[in-house]
Amino acid sequence: MRSMEAAQAQDIVLVGATGDLARRKLLPALYNLALDGLLPAEGEVIGYARGQLTDDEFRRHARAAVREHSRRHFDDSVWEPLARRLRFVCAREHGLAGVAERSTQERRLVYLATPPSLFAEITRELAEHGLTRGVRVVIEKPFGYDLRSAAALDDGLKQHLDERQIYRIDHYLGKETVQNILVVRFANSIFERLWNRDAIDHVQITVGESIGLEGRGATYEQVGAFRDILQNHVLQVVSLLTMEPPTSFEAEAIRDEKVKALQTIVPIDPAEVVLGQYTRGVIGGEPIPGYREEEGIAPDSQTESFAAARLRIDSWRWAGVPFFVRTGKRMPRRVSEVTIQFRDAPITFFQPTQVSALRPNRLTLRLQPEEGIGLSFMAKPPGPEVDARPVQMTFSYGDSFMTEPQEAYERLLHDAMDGDRTLFLRSDGVQRAWEIVEPVLASPPPVSYYPAGSWGPPAAEGLISPRAWHLDD
Ligand code: BG6
Repeated sequence: MRSMEAAQAQDIVLVGATGDLARRKLLPALYNLALDGLLPAEGEVIGYARGQLTDDEFRRHARAAVREHSRRHFDDSVWEPLARRLRFVCAREHGLAGVAERSTQERRLVYLATPPSLFAEITRELAEHGLTRGVRVVIEKPFGYDLRSAAALDDGLKQHLDERQIYRIDHYLGKETVQNILVVRFANSIFERLWNRDAIDHVQITVGESIGLEGRGATYEQVGAFRDILQNHVLQVVSLLTMEPPTSFEAEAIRDEKVKALQTIVPIDPAEVVLGQYTRGVIGGEPIPGYREEEGIAPDSQTESFAAARLRIDSWRWAGVPFFVRTGKRMPRRVSEVTIQFRDAPITFFQPTQVSALRPNRLTLRLQPEEGIGLSFMAKPPGPEVDARPVQMTFSYGDSFMTEPQEAYERLLHDAMDGDRTLFLRSDGVQRAWEIVEPVLASPPPVSYYPAGSWGPPAAEGLISPRAWHLDD
């Protein structure tokens, strides 16, 4: 993989520059890239939005965003040179012609931090103003609502852009721990030889959030947990876990293998899906209203805030190894974790009376928080008796590298400026992810209920039974 260097001279255009994504993620990411000396040495940073701001007002807005959301300390000596490069163009007054006028570089990165319904229209306007030459356009999910709308979105973009100019973000791929899946698999000799049906009983993935809808009720209501997290973030993680070794670590070689991995996932059977919706409950001592009581949500809503599924993988490596995945809002805590559970030892020498607890080995990839990896195995506790007890070997990012992981958006923005497509989705991969979920979208099972602050409806236990969901403590 490449080392990080400042990207080539280019303008950065943030479309939707005063919106939530720009405020919480993009502007702070630009600041942190500046702090690390990774911004292009030359080029403007042009904010484009409907509001009527002067350059100075936009700078003040951006400064406040960075102060509030940057992961690292605010430093005026880093901020000032970046602020001098900030410009603002009012969409209503000048349109993209205003951006064309202020753009100084041959190369541009245009980040569409807008609702996806505007992607095609903005791309058309970019073309109209000669802004598609030398451009890379970054877009973020949702890439459509189903297979058909995803194809329509793609067609709209491709009328003016080449596939190589489109950078589709799944921000999970920007997470250090998610990238680390490939390093753990392909830079060690011990794991990969166990990474198959001979050694693995099943794999499970939990993406739990304790937060609710965060003011996005009306949007979320149209989406639900299955489309919001499972169709994209979870399937991307599955593709990294299941892909074959690439022929090289070049972007296309990795993306080829990821798409092939997605092709081996059997479209999900709705009978193997559990959808849930939270009712009133308590998290961390706080009373939480039910989903249907949230702002923007219909009182009889059938939208799911929880989804679990069993995935079947039709490949030589994975045949017969189930992948159980679950995600939900208003779970007891925020946790993204992958557990690889190995098969039982072939013969048990230890009688149940002798052992306190005989457990299968588990490799746990803690994606967030407390990023790290754990391996559990059985060991003999000290004492005269022959007993076996599970113990845990742990790697923690914080302890080993003495640093917190970089924010996903910093990495992704930098890679897009640098033209490195490894961590971005290719259109065939997006299409395949929709194909995998299509049967469930076509006939979704009814939602069942779970109290806020629990791990989902009881049916989710049934889905994985006789196995059980597991999280590292
Ligand atoms: C987004 C979803 O893609 O990911 C949100 O739309 C979710 O609903 C978010 O909260 C979670 O991201 P992270 O990085 O906080 O795990």
